[in-house]
Amino acid sequence: MKNLILLAVVVAMCGCAPKDYKDATLPVEERVEALLSQMTLEEKVGQMSQYCGVEHVRVRDMRIAQKRKKIAANDDANAYYPGINADTLLRWTEEGKIGSYLHVLTVEEANMLQEHAMRSRLGIPLIFGIDAIHGNALAPDNTNYPTNIGLACSFNPDMAYKIARQTAKEMRAMNMHWTFNPNVDVARDGRWGRCGETYGEDTYLVGSMGVASVKGYQGNLDSQDDVLACIKHLIAGSQSVNGSNAAPTDVSERTLREVFLPPYERCLTEVKAGSLMTAHNEISGIPCHASKWLMEDVMRGECGFEGFVVSDWMDIERLHNLHAVAENRKEAFYQSIMAGMDMHMHGIYWFDEVIELVREGRIPESRIDESVRRILTAKFRLGLFENPYADVEQGAKVRLCEEHRQTALEAARQSIVLVKNDGILPLDVRKYKRVMVTGVNADDQGILGDWSSKQRPENVTTILEGLREVAPQTEFVFVNQGVYPNKMKQEKVDEAVRKARTADLNIVVVGEQGARYMKGRTCGENRDRANIELLGLQEELVRRVAASGKPTIMVVVAGRPQNVEWADENLPAILYAWEPGMYGGQAVAEILYGKVNPSAKMSMTIPRGSGQIGVYYNYKPSHYFHKYLDQNPYPLYHFGYGLSYTTFEYSDLSLSTEKISADGTVDVEVTITNTGERDGVEIAQLYIRDCYSSVTRPVKELKDFARVELKAGESKLVKFTITPDKLQFYNADMQRIVEPGEFKVMVGSSSRDEDLMTASFVVE
Ligand code: BGC
Repeated sequence: MKNLILLAVVVAMCGCAPKDYKDATLPVEERVEALLSQMTLEEKVGQMSQYCGVEHVRVRDMRIAQKRKKIAANDDANAYYPGINADTLLRWTEEGKIGSYLHVLTVEEANMLQEHAMRSRLGIPLIFGIDAIHGNALAPDNTNYPTNIGLACSFNPDMAYKIARQTAKEMRAMNMHWTFNPNVDVARDGRWGRCGETYGEDTYLVGSMGVASVKGYQGNLDSQDDVLACIKHLIAGSQSVNGSNAAPTDVSERTLREVFLPPYERCLTEVKAGSLMTAHNEISGIPCHASKWLMEDVMRGECGFEGFVVSDWMDIERLHNLHAVAENRKEAFYQSIMAGMDMHMHGIYWFDEVIELVREGRIPESRIDESVRRILTAKFRLGLFENPYADVEQGAKVRLCEEHRQTALEAARQSIVLVKNDGILPLDVRKYKRVMVTGVNADDQGILGDWSSKQRPENVTTILEGLREVAPQTEFVFVNQGVYPNKMKQEKVDEAVRKARTADLNIVVVGEQGARYMKGRTCGENRDRANIELLGLQEELVRRVAASGKPTIMVVVAGRPQNVEWADENLPAILYAWEPGMYGGQAVAEILYGKVNPSAKMSMTIPRGSGQIGVYYNYKPSHYFHKYLDQNPYPLYHFGYGLSYTTFEYSDLSLSTEKISADGTVDVEVTITNTGERDGVEIAQLYIRDCYSSVTRPVKELKDFARVELKAGESKLVKFTITPDKLQFYNADMQRIVEPGEFKVMVGSSSRDEDLMTASFVVE
């Protein structure tokens, strides 16, 4: 009553009624303030609270009941909420205590949950988040594109944009509003199971693909086809001390700023990504979830980030129960919020304990208001207040539509790298009439990679199916090696070896099982390895099949580098397919049979073996001063390397000037000629080296690239412009500057020295 009187007095004094936050004609800022002014503390903290979907909780409860097994309270991988069932979550939703759900996998569930939210006092809609990493593939019946590591091999940001745009449409068709992508980690360690989620090892390429994806997801964040992007994971979890997920990272501020931060900066300054997720790991002693420096100083202060920060899965709790920087859970919540955290990715203690922290006066309510403002801004901009539900029938027309399927196929064609070919490819159907196909992933959905659910068989073309479609006149004999490389059976290897002898050609598919729904998957999140050798009996399979004396070629399906050194030395052809998605099998077959001319280039260096893990192309000058005594120190496949069925020649490299001032630009021109007999696409790469500098600089860094389509015999002039930002680096005082002196420009078909033409200019 008192409050009502107060409100009446305020209204009378300023002569205006509070604005109606439901009025869509008002600017978003005014709607946010109007709503915020009416919210209780509970409703505010509710907006900062996310939970796993109720079906997820129901299925988990059912499993526990069936097994009559007590699941430990800290079994956080299962999202266990002790004492809380699906009905409690629905009630809390109606009470305005939940602002977001994740892992809701059907449109029916999303709409149902939204109905509960719309019944809450203020009718604030939920925002649904999901890991739509390569299409909204965690939910069945959506288009499933190649994973990011392969997509990056296309060096095609336009394709990344297109995929993100289509994914956004398929998400909105399911009432999903927020993807936990793009992952703009820079991945340089093949032991890390999550390499496949990233765009590889190069800062510039990762940034370019990330920017294009954010643009595609978000549009202008003002239509029913837009979703919120989430750049993650801040930061450098890809470079942990032992290669495993969530282990400590200990890189210098220089490495952070030179290698890992630029993609984030670009996604914020060039396209304003609307949210970001902090990483599981610590950086030099500070867990990212408690790092004010990262969230506030660097992201908001330096990069102008205006969106909201979401924690990663139960990671705030881990400040207490893993990193041990908080004596108890409540202290962990306190630390994280005061460092800049806005939303808690699921768990049942956050809500009450954050409210206590505010009531105790430890967290000012104004700090809570900041987070709520950011979250509400996203909800208003996405139009959730006006359109809280998705139309199931309309949505069905968008998901997996023909246009999206075609994009998935084209993206696969552009992402598969031909790394070896001594002339056997394209395969001659007249010569190879009987072909033995074997290996894990040859006929299963492992080609989909992480963050995919099991898809209907008719929506996936496995490699074997692709071969049969593309070369119907050929007899394909299949020897099934199962779906897990580490569980292969000796007798199946023996069988393949026997059948190899009677075939005209053998195709061995090797790699890892990355499909998320597969319990024994060997690749993907939390599937880190101590080495990158072929798992299980795969190396034996390849060598013995090859010993049959019949031509044997290899296809690699994996979300991270695999050591295929022996195969490279002994087999006539190798195709590195990464995780090519739903039509990966068709694309592999089209390339093997020459229906498609491969164009992709490696987005990550492939080492010669585990001892080389951590090898990357943009190393510092002293890197190879003393070489290993027991191994060739140089990688097997260099960053930017990949073959085609045609040949390209670079000529007439020229610079527009020999001297510039520190704020000047240089135009670079080069002629590329298709000197072979087939039309093709060449990915031209431009690298720069600062020849002498006050702190050490990499021997080369990618600064631009272009996909150039060339008909057989055709030449094209390709132009690049070197702008001052491409010459900058951090000096000893960590100021970003351009230093005078000579700069070397390298242009060519890969990062290998022998593939590059050079020229130079001077900054005066
Ligand atoms: C991963 C995140 C992901 C989240 C929600 C975490 O385990 O690290 O990348 O977005 O789960 O699925």
